[in-house]
Amino acid sequence: MFLPVDNAQHESDLPKNCTFAPNDWHILAGFWHPVAFVHDIKDVPVPARLLDVDLVIWRTQDGISVARDLCPHRGTRLSAGRIDDGQLICPMHGLHFDGAGHCTKIPSNPDQDARVSPRLRLQSLLVQERYGIVWTCLVQTPTWPLPDWPGIGDDTLKKVFVPSGTWAAAASRHVENFNDVAHFPWVHVNTFGGDENDRVPPYDVHATDHGLTFDLGYEEGFNRFPDDVPGDTRHVVYSYELTFPFSTIIIIRPNDSWYVQYFADTVCPVSAHETRIFQVATDTTGAPDEDFLIKESLMINDEDKHLVENQHPEDLPLGIMDEVHIPADRMSVAYRRALVEKFGLGARLSS
Ligand code: FES
Ligand SMILES: [Fe+2]
Repeated sequence: MFLPVDNAQHESDLPKNCTFAPNDWHILAGFWHPVAFVHDIKDVPVPARLLDVDLVIWRTQDGISVARDLCPHRGTRLSAGRIDDGQLICPMHGLHFDGAGHCTKIPSNPDQDARVSPRLRLQSLLVQERYGIVWTCLVQTPTWPLPDWPGIGDDTLKKVFVPSGTWAAAASRHVENFNDVAHFPWVHVNTFGGDENDRVPPYDVHATDHGLTFDLGYEEGFNRFPDDVPGDTRHVVYSYELTFPFSTIIIIRPNDSWYVQYFADTVCPVSAHETRIFQVATDTTGAPDEDFLIKESLMINDEDKHLVENQHPEDLPLGIMDEVHIPADRMSVAYRRALVEKFGLGARLSS
């Protein structure tokens, strides 16, 4: 019913009902995370949730702003408000806030020239707009850069944005699935599957400055490249480049071809067991078939989704002996090890 009078001095920085272990939350809060597609931020405030923290995203003349979805006056959700002339307006008493989070107007003040308390300020977050995605960070000094994506970062190539979906699964489970190549013929039966008897050749995982990478050759059974011969399978090299913690680009190169496809996947850990997916694709035609790519990507995601959502345990086991690995799991094992050894995720003690 009531908060103690000295609540402000003892308030934890963890969100209420935090679904993460405190140690994991603090580590993940140091990364940039995707929270929206740029094209979805128009003339109304948009709510989002990152690591159990409610956010509001809105557009001003200077670009996109992100803040905690909380009016400093009486704690109302700003995402239920509106935008007028680049000002975010709270739905409760109409306080106006600019893109930097300063209160610029209190409509009920008898003296409209009276000084506004600097405490009437939004909890604004760092923002970057890159690759058509809005990225934000819950701390003021991010510990890791944004992914450096070839192809997707090339302004001359048209981008295809796959409509964002939400999985009832941990972000790390999604990432591991996205980097798993042994499931193709079993799960992607109606898309690019391949033969169940295909072996996954031994491959090496290499550390990069900010992630992990590996290359894999694959006989692809589904004709989807512009220079395919109908009826043929195709030898294709998949290069995976993962940026910690939750971003991956696959660079797909069919043999003997001028064609290269870039498919980037980055996910927002909404909570420990809910994940919002942002995917951007392009290719060296410079004008990929948008309808086809979106339809195919949604079908591929659907083939994965129900299996990943039902994996047990919901949390990715970071103890290497907790699950049994097969030779095709080199990437998954390297990913789990790196999350522990590089960042200290999965530590038992809270901090
Ligand atoms: S609660 Fe936002 S203006 Fe009063
Ligand atoms: Fe898959």
